[in-house]
Amino acid sequence: MDYTTLGRTELKVSVAGLGCGGFSRLGLNTGGTEAGAIAIIHAALDHGVNLLDTAAPYDTESVVGKAIKTVPREQVVIATKSSVFRGGERHPPERVIASLDNSLRELGIDCIDVFQLHAVPPSGYDYVRDVIAPVLLKEKEKGKFRFLGITETSPNDLEHRMLLRAVPDGLWDVVMVAFHLMSQNTREAVFPATLQHRVGTLLMFAVRSIFARRERVVAAMQELAAQGEVPRSLADDPDPLGFLVHPGGATSLTDAAYRYVRHEPGVDVVLFGTGDQAHLRSNIESILRPPLPQADRDRLKSMFSHLRGVGLVVPPRARGATP
Ligand SMILES: NC(=O)c1ccc[n+]([C@@H]2O[C@H](COP(=O)([O-])OP(=O)(O)OC[C@H]3O[C@@H](n4cnc5c(N)ncnc54)[C@H](OP(=O)(O)O)[C@@H]3O)[C@@H](O)[C@H]2O)c1
Repeated sequence: MDYTTLGRTELKVSVAGLGCGGFSRLGLNTGGTEAGAIAIIHAALDHGVNLLDTAAPYDTESVVGKAIKTVPREQVVIATKSSVFRGGERHPPERVIASLDNSLRELGIDCIDVFQLHAVPPSGYDYVRDVIAPVLLKEKEKGKFRFLGITETSPNDLEHRMLLRAVPDGLWDVVMVAFHLMSQNTREAVFPATLQHRVGTLLMFAVRSIFARRERVVAAMQELAAQGEVPRSLADDPDPLGFLVHPGGATSLTDAAYRYVRHEPGVDVVLFGTGDQAHLRSNIESILRPPLPQADRDRLKSMFSHLRGVGLVVPPRARGATP
């Protein structure tokens, strides 16, 4: 495993972080058992992953808690989240504190490393900055968490407007941001600011569902060609990103997707979600491989850097599968 420093937190974190939500929820969304989910976490830790990202709405905090019981606390970095906005309502500060307290109980720990406000829309930023954050900082003084973080709601904030305001504010030590090979505007919009302010970054959406299956890329290309966003020839190609797989290049579509984000200046930790032991191994291998060849990266930039909102799908509503 390779390790890096998570921005100004100075936490030493693995460049690959295990996402405990998303489409898989450690396999719990795809027919897996709690024992299987715990085995995924242990396998990740055995490979040197030391950052686990969960959230109250994922309903995987208790599984993470059980998995880390046998692990010395200082060997693992725990990031979790509370929602503030749900179903058109915004939670009062007491509800966010109750969520924090519940996370501590579910995880079975005294102190969370990174406590994040989950999927904050641009329209909600003033509220979290002015009302929620001051109250949370008092909870931080009590020792309930070490660093405050915030995550964007990618499908609803294609220009990263929330983070553009949050990063310079000095309140948030860590941000979670979307970036992938067909959603590239994070490069110019967000990373220069996170680097300048030494804000740690957790990268989401590297694969999501689109780069897990070739047919989903084909479907996306057909939609984009119909909108005039990509040439028709790409929509007619049964393997539109196949040019990335070659000797000296990527070994698969998913390998390309992880390697594309991993080496971007400004990316600290690449989150990956899986309930599959073989995927876990291959994802870590991909994240540790060298960058994609420059010619392939240049081609991806010229083909896709103008696109917005591709592949940022939210999992189908299943228990805890947000967002
Ligand atoms: N706003 C937010 O706060 C927010 C939003 C999104 C994500 N996140 C965080 O980011 C984490 C990662 O999310 P993500 O969107 O990048 O990914 P994800 O939602 O976890 O999805 C990855 C998908 O790809 C599949 N997959 C993984 N490795 C594969 C491989 N090698 N080959 C083929 N399929 C593979 C997984 O299924 P298998 O189980 O079959 O491997 C899963 O369906 C989440 O768990 C969560 O912690 C946070």
